[in-house]
Amino acid sequence: MTREVEMHICLGSSCFSRGNKEVVMFIRDYLKKNHLEDKVIFKGARCMGNCSKGPNLRIDDRIEEEVTIARIEEILERELARLK
Ligand code: FES
Repeated sequence: MTREVEMHICLGSSCFSRGNKEVVMFIRDYLKKNHLEDKVIFKGARCMGNCSKGPNLRIDDRIEEEVTIARIEEILERELARLK
């Protein structure tokens, strides 16, 4: 099966202190629940140089800023609904 979306979450210290850990757990869970683990590559990344707007999540070539636990579900629905 081909992977169709690549997501990289920033694991740098600034994004960490802004709550990226909860977001990582939410994304892993979401991919599992929606059977998207074969279609989405999800990895950690180093500082993306955009610390003041973190947590940052790169989706393919675009950076989504301020990815908080409150916003992540909406972002995933918007970006990944077509893969379900
Ligand atoms: S620590 Fe995430 S952009 Fe710098």
